[in-house]
Amino acid sequence: MADRKSVTVRVPAKVNVQLAVGGARPDGFHDLANVFLAVSLFDEVTVTPADELRVTCSGPDADQVPLDRTNLAARAAERLAARHGIAPDVHIHIAKDIPVAGGMAGGSADGAGALLACDALWGLNSSRAELMEICAELGSDVPFSLAGGAALGVGRGERLSELPVGGTIHWVFAVADGGLSTPAVYREFDRLAEGTDVPEPVASPDLLEALRTGDAAALAGTLSNDLQPAALSLRPSLAATLETGMAAGALAALVSGSGPTTAFLTKDEDSARSVAEALTTSGTCRTARVAHAPAPGARIV
Ligand code: C5P
Repeated sequence: MADRKSVTVRVPAKVNVQLAVGGARPDGFHDLANVFLAVSLFDEVTVTPADELRVTCSGPDADQVPLDRTNLAARAAERLAARHGIAPDVHIHIAKDIPVAGGMAGGSADGAGALLACDALWGLNSSRAELMEICAELGSDVPFSLAGGAALGVGRGERLSELPVGGTIHWVFAVADGGLSTPAVYREFDRLAEGTDVPEPVASPDLLEALRTGDAAALAGTLSNDLQPAALSLRPSLAATLETGMAAGALAALVSGSGPTTAFLTKDEDSARSVAEALTTSGTCRTARVAHAPAPGARIV
């Protein structure tokens, strides 16, 4: 609908239930077997026609979000506009609820959200395949932000195949003070791996089966994140957060993606609330959020 005044898209955060990382490739990226799960923490991206491209952001951590052309939402608008030979003159407003620089794909979510919103605002009707292609150009996690649900990502994480999930999975996310830079965590991974043989990354059949049946207890035994030692090396205080959540009754705990957000799998919603309460009062994190999965991908609201 080309005559719309503004379009809002809601887009989810993600947790990696498995992040298997291979050795560094010649292009600097790492081959991954990346099992993504979208969770119910959402950013909302609203686009409105304007005289020029600009980005604003609201929410508790808005001051940590770059508003220049490095913001993936701005880059998404520019790329889509360039493909169609039009000017990216749009005001992008991000209502931010996903932790910033937290390993939960918050920036990627805003890229996917802005892309879908601009496509609708400008009446372009791009195919899903075209949108996915632009997402992959924007970043490794952006295609999954558009897709949502659960998926296995291979290559640098951008080549997705959808995965079935057999039920609702309950989570708590402990948000740390300050972010971690994803490239810095990968560099630390390379440093720690120096002189060792890094195996080819493969998805765990047991983990895929636990997801398919929605069995939280079985899933708990299969969660893994190869970036966790690197994130803990750069932020040793995360160990205390992980211990606190486990002591409060979580089934499993791990660093979310490149961190520093930590993720706690719980048996049900009640347990999630008590783990969140224990984490919040422990002083080992800034705040704790309850969420469930799988969540849908980017959607116009
Ligand atoms: O693709 P994206 O821009 O999100 O990646 C951010 C950084 O994370 C890359 O510059 C790279 O340092 C690291 N990365 C990687 N291997 C991947 C994905 C990301 O080394 N598969």
